[in-house]
Amino acid sequence: MTSWSRLSFLALLVLQETVLAEYVRTKKSTIAPVGAEVLTVGVIGDYGWTGWTPSPPHFCLEVLPELKAAGLVIPNEVLNDCDPGDILYITNATALQLDTSSYVGQVCAVKNCTAFVSVGDNFYDSGVDFTTGGIQRFQEAWVGMYSQGVFESAPWYQCLGNHDIVKGQSGVDFQTKVAPIYDPRWNFGTQGLPYWTYDLTGKDWTATFVVVDSDCFLSSYQLNTSVYVNPYTQACYADRQTQIDFLANTFAQSTATWKFLQLHHGYMSSATNETDLAPLVEIVIQHNGVVLNGHDHCLAHYYSNNTNFILSGAAGYPQAGDCNYGIPLGPYAKFLGANPISAANGFVTMDISKQYINVEYYVRDMQFEDGDLYPVPYDLNPSYSFQITEHAT
Ligand SMILES: *[C@@H]1O[C@H](CO)[C@@H](O)[C@H](O)[C@H]1NC(C)=O
Ligand SMILES: *[C@@H]1O[C@H](CO)[C@@H](O)[C@H](O)[C@H]1NC(C)=O
Ligand SMILES: *[C@@H]1O[C@H](CO)[C@@H](O)[C@H](O)[C@H]1NC(C)=O
Ligand SMILES: *[C@@H]1O[C@H](CO)[C@@H](O)[C@H](O)[C@H]1NC(C)=O
Ligand SMILES: *[C@@H]1O[C@H](CO)[C@@H](O)[C@H](O)[C@H]1NC(C)=O
Repeated sequence: MTSWSRLSFLALLVLQETVLAEYVRTKKSTIAPVGAEVLTVGVIGDYGWTGWTPSPPHFCLEVLPELKAAGLVIPNEVLNDCDPGDILYITNATALQLDTSSYVGQVCAVKNCTAFVSVGDNFYDSGVDFTTGGIQRFQEAWVGMYSQGVFESAPWYQCLGNHDIVKGQSGVDFQTKVAPIYDPRWNFGTQGLPYWTYDLTGKDWTATFVVVDSDCFLSSYQLNTSVYVNPYTQACYADRQTQIDFLANTFAQSTATWKFLQLHHGYMSSATNETDLAPLVEIVIQHNGVVLNGHDHCLAHYYSNNTNFILSGAAGYPQAGDCNYGIPLGPYAKFLGANPISAANGFVTMDISKQYINVEYYVRDMQFEDGDLYPVPYDLNPSYSFQITEHAT
């Protein structure tokens, strides 16, 4: 390319970005109703298994090792699609996502959930990008999966997880720029960025949510052995101060009754405490906020540093080890949706009003033809609940 055509190419890119941002800004998204005395939202995470096709065993087990031995550079996406654990889970995981989506729909029909707050891992194993395959996955694993009953009109407020960023910037672009135009229920702000903010507004209360991409904070994702290292994560890791400042400024400028940090990874966990998230959590502590996260494939309530951490990572494939088989590692673990054999599918609802937030953990009775993976006597009642009454500052 000559320098002139290169320049006009760049100018065109900038123009496209501006036009797109403007288009997304003016396009009508579906949003939660305004002015309710009590608004119920579902918090949901780690769900997007449907339609993922792993590479064939011959490739993963025989060809891949030879390619590595020959010194070929293997794309992260290809490595990730040979993940032996995920290949083992895919059949069950797909069935469990479907069963759990109908369970969430049932609970939400009773509870009148009017929006869903996502904590990421929207598409296993390597996310979606702007290719025909990406479009088909988006249609199958989300648009079609969550389309009946309450899902028909409820907006989702979205967030990225580690599986969403394996394809780098093109994966991020699909979820932040393409998906909101594809389906108005998919909210990801208007700037095409992986971090954004929104308010839910009630009759006499407001809740400010700040979404960040926690993938940008983990030093382990920067290692050259990680499938998550790519130009996107390298750049946003180097620039993580931007997301820290965004959270600090948004919370500082907000006079909301309640303030939430919505992200994928857990600062408090029963598997891995992601301490790299401390700069974000410090801001939440200062503002008396609440943390919503996923990543660990189970449901849990942690309370630490005078702060509530709500884990909702159980809408796909639950994993008992992620909730330490139901055994609390310390007094910070108030509830764990797991037992020595399995973890439960499910999600969390929050009934938000001026006086309190009622947080309920819905745990699915996981019956199948030969038994019950997680027996719950009456699963349309919450298995655990607590209330938040201290307002944000
Ligand atoms: C559900 O909640 C919304 C928001 O509070 C309210 O506008 C709507 O009337 C409720 N619907 C039912 C059936 O209760
Ligand atoms: C898949 O689910 C079946 C029960 O339907 C269970 O017996 C089996 O162990 C599960 N497989 C995996 C890999 O979790
Ligand atoms: C990864 O990093 C290590 C340590 O910095 C280095 O020794 C190694 O050669 C690198 N490997 C690749 C594949 O870049
Ligand atoms: C996470 O931190 C808590 C509190 O400091 C600690 O009790 C727990 O053992 C940690 N969890 C893990 C998996 O290291
Ligand atoms: C939370 O409390 C622990 C123990 O007191 C402390 O080490 C840690 O730095 C605190 N975390 C944050 C984000 O302030």
